[in-house]
Amino acid sequence: MCSKGNKTMLDRKAGPMVRTQAFAPDDLSAVYRAIETRRDVRGQFLEKPLPEDLIWRLLSAAHHAPSVGFMQPWNFTLVEAGPVREKVWEAFSRANEEAAQMFEGEKQTQYRALKLEGIRTAPLNICVTCDPTRGGTVVLGRTHNMRMDAYSTVCAVQNLWLAARAEGVGVGWVSIFHEADIKAILGIPDHVEVIAWLCVGYVDELYREPELAVKGWRQRLPLQDLVFRDAWGQLDGG
Ligand SMILES: Cc1cc2nc3c(=O)[nH]c(=O)nc-3n(C[C@H](O)[C@H](O)[C@H](O)COP(=O)(O)O)c2cc1C
Repeated sequence: MCSKGNKTMLDRKAGPMVRTQAFAPDDLSAVYRAIETRRDVRGQFLEKPLPEDLIWRLLSAAHHAPSVGFMQPWNFTLVEAGPVREKVWEAFSRANEEAAQMFEGEKQTQYRALKLEGIRTAPLNICVTCDPTRGGTVVLGRTHNMRMDAYSTVCAVQNLWLAARAEGVGVGWVSIFHEADIKAILGIPDHVEVIAWLCVGYVDELYREPELAVKGWRQRLPLQDLVFRDAWGQLDGG
């Protein structure tokens, strides 16, 4: 048993809370720089392999994401060059042809000119999955919206993406495939959901703006038009 005096000392040294304040200006601007200069990378991957300790730093960043009920529903399947990667690229190619045909006329021509994956040029691919059974059937916070586990996994992806930017590593999210194809190729159990296929590799240049904006597909919306106050559609200040 601690005396009162000892307990005070313990609280100060190793209590559950830590004193906090805003980051120093350089650290703060580094955080915003990572957020604002992060890009989805498809075509700029360098061949240089990623060191194992770097890969684990990125995975650890992902693993520090928030998750509903602290469920941590994610898994990360790492895929490098080889037959698995080839099959995934083939699954993408088939789905991408289907996707192209969903657009009409000029838009289809424009779609076909876009590069939408770097599966075979990135030295590392990561399949990020969500296991909805991870926290049992009743999960704190997921009681009224079962999609919260998937949203948690998306948070993990974003953490990895931002950490990668800071490390000089590009990440591209590929979602054009039938989930069933990826599950069959990787042997993912039925109940587990594929959230993201990520292409990961060093880059030495990035688009200044989203590639889709640069190539005229779609532009960034004005933030002011997206912010409401008190009620849906009630623009802030307008
Ligand atoms: C859920 C999700 C799925 C995406 N799927 C693809 C994809 O299949 N192919 C692709 O080229 N980019 C994909 N992207 C990247 C977006 O196109 C990209 O984030 C967007 O154009 C903005 O560009 P930026 O990330 O460089 O800022 C995806 C992004 C997200 C968040």
